[in-house]
Amino acid sequence: MITMTPIPGNSFYGRDILSVDQFARDDLEYIFGVAEGMRDIARGPGSSDLLRGKVLSCLFYEPSTRTSSSFVAAMSRLGGSVIPINEVHYSSVTKGESLPDTIRTLECYSDVIVLRHPETGSARIAADFARIPVINGGDGIGEHPTQALLDLFTIQEELGHIDGLSVVMVGDLKYGRTVHSLARLLSLYNVRILCVAPDVLRMPDRIIAQLQERGIPTGETADLNVVLADADVLYVTRVQKERFEDQALYERVKGSYVITPQTLRRAKEKMVVMHPLPRVGEISYEVDSDPRAAYFRQMENGMYIRMALLAAVLGKT
Ligand code: CP
Repeated sequence: MITMTPIPGNSFYGRDILSVDQFARDDLEYIFGVAEGMRDIARGPGSSDLLRGKVLSCLFYEPSTRTSSSFVAAMSRLGGSVIPINEVHYSSVTKGESLPDTIRTLECYSDVIVLRHPETGSARIAADFARIPVINGGDGIGEHPTQALLDLFTIQEELGHIDGLSVVMVGDLKYGRTVHSLARLLSLYNVRILCVAPDVLRMPDRIIAQLQERGIPTGETADLNVVLADADVLYVTRVQKERFEDQALYERVKGSYVITPQTLRRAKEKMVVMHPLPRVGEISYEVDSDPRAAYFRQMENGMYIRMALLAAVLGKT
């Protein structure tokens, strides 16, 4: 992509959003501040034309409800427009068009591209070919940086701070790109990260090593009961059926953890339950009415964060 002159205070202008490793704490404080302003715009009576005339290409090679629709909503609420390619089977991808050629096409028509793709590293490849900013909307089991930003924003909004918290991540920590990104983003803060997973779904060693290099106290167990009472944040994830080569293994581990009202009796009163969604049984519906269940508020925050990111990347904050 081309280099643009940065706006003071906005280090996002003209940048790709590919990995959480590109952020410092100052960047997060900046984007969270903009997201709070975006919430006021979205909840207010009026409308905004901040991004009028700007066009977003939403290119999704994998299914999505939240990421795709919140980016579309974010762009629409700021007066911009969207080229939605949510079903690549109806695009020239089915004729064999490569990712670089598809990116080269969309950059002619738009100002920013959001890409979700099944292959780790695909967002980086797209960015290498694009002259406009590329935002990684999830690349295989790699990263989901905008999800991590909205997750961290939610923790701050719900608990008022991030430093000093114990964050328990539970479920599919091997294939879950949201926890890969969130764990690394949390390592900018003074937190403890406790990983709860069956042996076959453990957090990858490279991520544990990265956390430890940054001085983050970490722990691993397969037993949620060992760490639940200490949790300030219980981050639950879906076991990712689509990533398993061995479906019998999936069947064996899919129900490893189910959060119910009984589970939460052993947790702190002031704690939040989060989930990137979709859920497929790992949080029972009875938990939804517990004030600690933050996953729907988390999902809503996604739109404010994506409004902030689009405005920042396009230099309009
Ligand atoms: N959390 C998340 O990425 O949801 P979608 O797959 O629906 O976009």
